[in-house]
Amino acid sequence: MSFLLNTWYVAAFAHEVRGDAPLARTLLGRPVVLCRNAEGRAFALDDRCAHRFAPLSRGRVADGAIECPYHGLRFDGDGRCVHNPHGDGRVPSQAQVRAYPVLERFGAIWFWPGDVARADAALLPSFAFVDPDANLTHHGYLKTRAHYQLSADNLLDLSHFQFLHPDTLGSEAIAQGDVETAGSDTAVLVRRSTFDETLQPFVADGFGVPPGMRVDRWMDVKWMPPGLLMIVVGVTGAGIPREAGRIAPSAHWLTPETERTTHYFFAFGLPNSMGDAGRELVRYAVDGLMKPFELEDLPMLEAQQNNLGDADFWSAQPALLPIDQGAIRARRIMERLIASEREREGDAGPRVIPVKPAFAAA
Ligand code: FES
Ligand SMILES: [Fe+2]
Repeated sequence: MSFLLNTWYVAAFAHEVRGDAPLARTLLGRPVVLCRNAEGRAFALDDRCAHRFAPLSRGRVADGAIECPYHGLRFDGDGRCVHNPHGDGRVPSQAQVRAYPVLERFGAIWFWPGDVARADAALLPSFAFVDPDANLTHHGYLKTRAHYQLSADNLLDLSHFQFLHPDTLGSEAIAQGDVETAGSDTAVLVRRSTFDETLQPFVADGFGVPPGMRVDRWMDVKWMPPGLLMIVVGVTGAGIPREAGRIAPSAHWLTPETERTTHYFFAFGLPNSMGDAGRELVRYAVDGLMKPFELEDLPMLEAQQNNLGDADFWSAQPALLPIDQGAIRARRIMERLIASEREREGDAGPRVIPVKPAFAAA
């Protein structure tokens, strides 16, 4: 599988990872178990016991370690076997499960699937506006049955609002809007501005726009590797300066589950100072977006993936439009990063995690 490894991915929302029950999740094609130790620190291990490869996620938590459901070995947050209930209790040196570097930031648990020595918290971009310690936030999750780059394409080109979401997010003005694309080696920015449009009730209500009022809308999408996006949508009265309008910032985090499926985590955040009104707005946004996401985006992404099958995106020779500039830049950045990672590791093929069976000493 050709995933970028030396980078941070969201493994779960923070509230999903508990200290009393392990959570199983497939990430980048590998089974991972997430849990918290006795101090509440989140950890991530390969979901495969070092003894006979039972899924640790089916076990229980005991003294901040995960107890394998098959023969009872216990593994701590560093993947070390800390308890062997058999015989003299000696722990063989091979009784070690791979542990991934983990961070808890912005309401999410992030994991680093690459080299442990290269894991660096400073490489994680800031999504401070969805940090629940300092903001009013609300989260949504969807399983997308498509490659994560198809989801990134979707978010980097919001012209699809007009055609795929005509009754919720779209309007007749979107395809005619101005689009600017910019970026660097590590980020892509797509700004879409529409003018003098009438919003659908879901968007108008969210921005406090009276029915039928003409508005200008802008949608700024920032993408960063491997699939981390920030989207700021703003609305103001038609012809009125943007500063007088309102904005809704959101985070969108794409983590490959497999080559053909994606964990799509998203969140809205508003300042604590907005109180109950802000709390209601972030809920309104997430709950309201679930409908077009689930009923329109997900089936489209799945249908695209079915049409592509196992074909490489470029080998399918996609027609390119000016609206694709941002998505193409993002794909090129990922291709470059993955290629340089492979080159650096001298590993052109799929990575195989070595299996070390553990045999307890007699
Ligand atoms: S398979 Fe886990 S203890 Fe045997
Ligand atoms: Fe969409």
